[in-house]
Amino acid sequence: MRIGIIGAGAMAAALGGGWAAAGHEVRIGARSAEAGRELAARIGAAPGGPRQPVRRSTEVPGIGSAATPVVSAGDIVSAITDADAVLLAVPVDALTAVLGEHRDALAGKVLIDCTNAFLPDAAAPEGVTAFVLSEDAVAERIAATVPKAHVVKAFNLLAAEVWAGPDRVFDGERLAVPLCGDDVDALRTVASLAEDLALQPFPAGGLHRAKYLEATSVFTVGLWFAGANARAMLPPLSAAFAVADA
Ligand SMILES: NC(=O)c1ccc[n+]([C@@H]2O[C@H](COP(=O)([O-])OP(=O)(O)OC[C@H]3O[C@@H](n4cnc5c(N)ncnc54)[C@H](OP(=O)(O)O)[C@@H]3O)[C@@H](O)[C@H]2O)c1
Repeated sequence: MRIGIIGAGAMAAALGGGWAAAGHEVRIGARSAEAGRELAARIGAAPGGPRQPVRRSTEVPGIGSAATPVVSAGDIVSAITDADAVLLAVPVDALTAVLGEHRDALAGKVLIDCTNAFLPDAAAPEGVTAFVLSEDAVAERIAATVPKAHVVKAFNLLAAEVWAGPDRVFDGERLAVPLCGDDVDALRTVASLAEDLALQPFPAGGLHRAKYLEATSVFTVGLWFAGANARAMLPPLSAAFAVADA
């Protein structure tokens, strides 16, 4: 698959690196040509990857010639143009400018939104790092701004270092990625991209539910920054409703 990434920071490196290692063709679209080239070189030089491009059966053979590098960089337009899926990996306060400029190019694309609208929580006790959201429904705003793109919220819950990690199996279970979106084909595409990272995709409802993923992220990260083991607050599925229905 051809994956375009807008941004050349931590999330672009983590997810783009994983997809390149899985054999996808990754194009970094950065506003700084130097940052884009540096990231493409870093991902391309990572141990074990990238492999030769994986093509899905729906892709037209021959597009992206054998000479096309598996990881490349260019401007944002070049990352969007031929992409089967585009990862939006920029800060929330850049969205208005980026989406406004590229609205037409993004029409019809699978648009993966991993953003979080974190702001420092001014009410947190001194010495405690905590966050609040600067807005409540970023994915829905993205969809309203680029109504012809197929937005899927994914990968916003955890730190880039986790997505980049070599082993995401905890207590014997593959790490799950909840996905929220309205387009069935786009959800299928992002689910397959999660599986290519050795993760477990969870369908988590329509895009109107993405705001709950955004709230879960800010709440959970706050617990972790406070030193609390957020994982401990949830029972296993078998005990989720305590007493089985008669
Ligand atoms: N890092 C994490 O652990 C993590 C986890 C989950 C979700 N997220 C979310 O993922 C998104 C990306 O985070 P990140 O950690 O990858 O950020 P980052 O490391 O700061 O990288 C952000 C990238 O966006 C680019 N950018 C900023 N403003 C731009 C604009 N107006 N136009 C074009 N490009 C612009 C930056 O370019 P310059 O270098 O030129 O500024 C940089 O390449 C954020 O929304 C964040 O909340 C991050």
